[in-house]
Amino acid sequence: MKILSVASELFPLVKTGGLADVTGALPLALKDHGVEVRTLLPAYPSVLSAVGTTRKLVDLGEVLGERATLLSVSFMGLDLLLLDAPGFFNRKGGPYLDQAGKDYPDNWKRFAALAQTGAEIAAGLLPDWRPDLVHAHDWQAALTPVYMRYAEAPEIPSLLTIHNIAFQGQFPAEHFGGLQLPPHAFMEVLEYYGTMSFMKAGLLTAHAISTVSPSYAEEILTPEFGMGLEGVIGSRAPDLHGIVNGIDATIWNPARDPSIDSGYTSASLKKRKANRTALAQAFSIDDDDGPLFCVISRLTWQKGMDLLPDVVDQIIAAGGRLVVLGSGEFGIEGALVHAASRHASRVGVKIGYDEPLSHLMQAGSDAILIPSRFEPCGLTQLYGLRYGCVPVVARTGGLNDTVIDANEAALASQAATGIQFWPVTVEGLRQALRRTFRLYRDDKTWGQMQKAGMKSDVSWGRSAARYADLYKSLTSKGQ
Ligand code: ADP
Ligand code: GLC
Repeated sequence: MKILSVASELFPLVKTGGLADVTGALPLALKDHGVEVRTLLPAYPSVLSAVGTTRKLVDLGEVLGERATLLSVSFMGLDLLLLDAPGFFNRKGGPYLDQAGKDYPDNWKRFAALAQTGAEIAAGLLPDWRPDLVHAHDWQAALTPVYMRYAEAPEIPSLLTIHNIAFQGQFPAEHFGGLQLPPHAFMEVLEYYGTMSFMKAGLLTAHAISTVSPSYAEEILTPEFGMGLEGVIGSRAPDLHGIVNGIDATIWNPARDPSIDSGYTSASLKKRKANRTALAQAFSIDDDDGPLFCVISRLTWQKGMDLLPDVVDQIIAAGGRLVVLGSGEFGIEGALVHAASRHASRVGVKIGYDEPLSHLMQAGSDAILIPSRFEPCGLTQLYGLRYGCVPVVARTGGLNDTVIDANEAALASQAATGIQFWPVTVEGLRQALRRTFRLYRDDKTWGQMQKAGMKSDVSWGRSAARYADLYKSLTSKGQ
């Protein structure tokens, strides 16, 4: 089966979050299920410089007013189709934000161009390769099923995956004319309280919808988590699927990870100690036996990061240490840097993005804190499980589905893999920390939790099979 994946990020070429990890790893896992994936991605400068020589497939002329060419290249086992439209993508900032951190004003058009190209490939643009199904990711690709719906070509099935319903691609209605869709498409699918919503339009037009965990699939049907789109999603409930993300177990393998000091397995957990020492050095903090907590995260309200400065004193008073790697809201960054300056020998904060350091943090910390207010799936708890870095997580979304709380029954049966808490408040987090310190002091129990986590299946195996089944059911429906 041939799948066209359409996405705005893909690890290791361009990444702002877990979306890239998923679009980079899922195609590789699907190979075992007889599924061939080609991924359509914008040809950002970082992508073009990393992939080397590309092949020119099609001169697209102008796409939504900019000169564009479709390139192809194979890179680390991935088949890529690159939309090379320099007017849209050859920019100095990130994929969505300029160098000053502001959204590019033409993001609506940049990602509509990506989606329109995806729909053309679906309609048979490439002479020797036509997909059986299109899999679009998040709002940036959400217009793909919309262009497919309004195209004249015979329709093939489409799947839209919601990685985070908080990001909806909402733009002023005045841009509708620039999308080159028929006029009736506005009221039929795009209109959202007088504006346009790319996510809403995708949700209404895709043949099926998925999101990245079963719990989040239920949560987004409610006003608390649906962020205004719960009604639209509810209208598609029979076509909604929750499939939990996996991780690339080759890139994230503590036995062979070039970014850590000492490789280990669940049978040689003592070797983690050298990583802890290296980590303490990297953050210039004390190296002792108190529990070392880490945070690797966007520093935002979603992630509950505003609560963290309020629990720093508690962590230090109980003999713990904390290392934080992330960037995000200015106020949260400042509060964390301030907390670190008050406890320079026990708290380290690095503002920024550092992939290798994130590996060392998972390999050298005792626990990872993830107090998210909502979390569609979350990947850092999965990396934590695989690395024996015990996750302390809010009971929501994918965190709920992937971490087994250390309650009495789970501890007795040695099934526990982490600590869950709710609600996400300072007091909720404080209680979770008190439980974590208690468990950490009991070496045997802690070691059991680390081992149970390392043994839990966080690979793509099962979830890739579910995607393959879903693709199959969608393609057979139309025949
Ligand atoms: P989200 O996509 O909502 O940010 P996820 O947990 O799904 O959350 O994915 C985050 C990904 O980004 C993980 O791979 C995590 O390790 C990585 N990450 C987040 N912040 C940083 C950072 N500052 N440096 C390196 N990696 C980071
Ligand atoms: C989004 C979500 C995160 C999820 C990731 C990959 O960024 O916030 O929870 O893990 O997408 O699906």
